[in-house]
Amino acid sequence: MFSKYFWLSLLLAIVYFLYSRGFYEKIKFQLMEGTLNLADTIYFGLNENSGGSKMFTISELERYTNLENGLYLSILGQVFDVTKGEKHYGSGRSYHAFTGRDASLAFITGEFDDQGLTDDISSLSMQQVKALNDWVQFYKTNYIYKGKLYGRYYNQDGSPTIEFYKIQEKLLLLQKEKALEEAQNRMFPPCNVEWNLDIGTVFWCTERSGGIDRDWVGVPRMFFETAQGSSRCTCVKLDSKEYEENKARFKEYDGCDKYATKCTLRMNKT
Ligand code: HEM
Repeated sequence: MFSKYFWLSLLLAIVYFLYSRGFYEKIKFQLMEGTLNLADTIYFGLNENSGGSKMFTISELERYTNLENGLYLSILGQVFDVTKGEKHYGSGRSYHAFTGRDASLAFITGEFDDQGLTDDISSLSMQQVKALNDWVQFYKTNYIYKGKLYGRYYNQDGSPTIEFYKIQEKLLLLQKEKALEEAQNRMFPPCNVEWNLDIGTVFWCTERSGGIDRDWVGVPRMFFETAQGSSRCTCVKLDSKEYEENKARFKEYDGCDKYATKCTLRMNKT
């Protein structure tokens, strides 16, 4: 009854409608969240996967501080054989204090005294917890995983403790924040900035500014992330839906043409 052109036009109209309502951005975000959740599941899976790995008690682990028994260390409750790194962990070497115990905190603070050599990392910020997790990944990649330490992060049966889950939660939150920040950077990429004593500060946008490859250039605008906070220079696409929805958070640079892709803020010479 209807010609194929009718159906084609209908299809195009639907695609345009979805696009104009920002559906694709939403789908992309959902997918990203899904990926994070999947990564989280895999991460938990890896940590859960104790297949044949041993549960160490604190006093058992204390024996592994020499070459006869082996050099073992624990980080966030995961035990690794670091004997092959004898030059770092052997007796009298710089990082010997890490062996035979869980001194997770010292991986970040670098404090190797009795107070610093502890597995209590409650004083660490989210970023520091992330840095500590990077150390765990380092040991997983470079040394031999031996098992888990019964204590702060693992129960006697090898299941994770509440403390362990709290850390995982922090890491996941950080990951999500990072993903959001990346999404925001794609919408409003940072400008190129150059400062020169004679000229002042120059802000400009290109199809690659802020390290974000795109098919538009944009114009520099001051972007206020919070109501009272300081601003940063971002490139905005004036006819974009994202700009329209967030207009109140942007301000033009004084003395800069509304449509200019480059702005110079001159120094006030006294
Ligand atoms: C929070 C402070 C620090 C911690 C927790 C730390 C920890 C470590 C650890 C665990 C290793 C051995 C890595 C492995 O198994 O291969 C290492 C290696 C090393 N660290 Fe540090 N470090 C810290 C600060 C420093 C600083 C300030 C310096 C330099 C002044 C430094 C220089 C080195 C060097 C040269 C190596 C040996 C690299 C190699 O031979 O492959 N570290 N560090």
